[in-house]
Amino acid sequence: MDKLVVTGGQPLTGSLPVGGSKNTALPLMAAALLADGTTTLTNIPALRDVYTFANVLRVSGASVSFDESAHQLRVDARRIDHPEAPYDLVKKMRASFYMLGALVGRCGQARVSLPGGCAWGPRPVDLHLEGMKAFGASIELDQGYVVASTPNGRLQGGSFRMEPSSVGATINLLLGAVTAQGGSRIENAAQEPDVVAFGETLKQMGAQIDGLGTRTIEVQGVDALEPVSVRNTPDRIEMGTFMVAALLAGEPGVPFRVKNGHHPHLGAAFKKHVADTGATVVYEDDVVTITPPDRIRPTSIATATYPGFPTDLQAQWGVLMAHADGTTRITDTIYDDRFKHIPELQRMGLDASVKGDTATIHGPTDFKAATVMSTDLRASVSLVLAGMVAEGTTDVLRVYHLDRGYENLEQKLQQAGIDIHREQYDEFSEPERVAERTA
Ligand code: UD1
Repeated sequence: MDKLVVTGGQPLTGSLPVGGSKNTALPLMAAALLADGTTTLTNIPALRDVYTFANVLRVSGASVSFDESAHQLRVDARRIDHPEAPYDLVKKMRASFYMLGALVGRCGQARVSLPGGCAWGPRPVDLHLEGMKAFGASIELDQGYVVASTPNGRLQGGSFRMEPSSVGATINLLLGAVTAQGGSRIENAAQEPDVVAFGETLKQMGAQIDGLGTRTIEVQGVDALEPVSVRNTPDRIEMGTFMVAALLAGEPGVPFRVKNGHHPHLGAAFKKHVADTGATVVYEDDVVTITPPDRIRPTSIATATYPGFPTDLQAQWGVLMAHADGTTRITDTIYDDRFKHIPELQRMGLDASVKGDTATIHGPTDFKAATVMSTDLRASVSLVLAGMVAEGTTDVLRVYHLDRGYENLEQKLQQAGIDIHREQYDEFSEPERVAERTA
């Protein structure tokens, strides 16, 4: 396996470039299945999740080619003859469950493995299934697979209110509804920029959708969609992560630039909290210039749906607040168990406690290097951030989690002055002393 080795104490200088959004790329790839032809997607990040989803599409019969250096992905969906998403791939990545909507939308039927649990809690898919039923699908469970069928090869359409609002369920229901026989309505729909960008692409493909970016989305089904060429949006979570990195490890009073992003997608709450730390921030077209203050002011946050503070930036914010002068609370109202990184950070000296959906962090912390374990994607980047400001050399194990969502993170950070590199290690090797004693 790979680990990242970070030696702390080097300031982050210059700039960091943001790549294409992972959480938009995946639904765009699913959307490509709806068109009988070849869809071309650009600004697609070369990430493990993209490779996994390309394989999911291939299982269904699509032909997928990915030019990684050009970040261009082409999906030829002329022959979709196997409407199934197998457990071996779905277990690697929950977003594979988008195949439910994509295959029902294209073929009128689907057999998709249920995703199962996740590192930070149960993460149910009940809303995806109830919504599909409300739109006219029959849903059965067979050996861990969801089997969806429609009376005459198409959904009828219908009305569904989701509670809570779900990004994944909104995407799945849109994938199914755009080719339904009748009209559909999704209430309390997700307003996240990823959903809006995906919905706009469906519209370019010929779908009839109203209300994107609001809580009520209405769809009038059409007979078929056309292939398109579309540029993916920048990754708002990578952008937010780099802004946090600049505040944490940048030089106070020295401007740092985060490039190639789209700052409106950060949402109002994140921007407000960044300003509350005492940072000076200038937002321009695709560049954010951020100047860290001498001391980070403690700034408590609570995650919420867009434009609230993103749950995917909560772990990184916790590391920043460990550096602040005082006590902060980090509340995750979306995933109340998403604090697996805290015990790892405690091994590096973090003074924190977790109760219910809230972590209380007492700063300032002088992080000390340690060997720590990634437990999920955003947790792993929070450990890298802590390593950047820790005294000594930190080994972050199991970086395959991080590779799901950050493209070439170590090269990007190296170019911005951070002492970081990747090494291979043997996860199951015993300490040398054990080997000596058992020889
Ligand atoms: C997406 C993002 C993930 C992000 C999350 C919240 C992708 C690939 N992943 O995940 O990075 O952390 O949004 O912004 O885009 N829920 C139910 N029943 C359901 C579905 C969801 O109760 O059927 C609940 C969840 O447990 C959670 C809340 O709804 O409490 C929001 O989850 P959801 O928006 O569905 O997250 P994902 O789409 O899985």
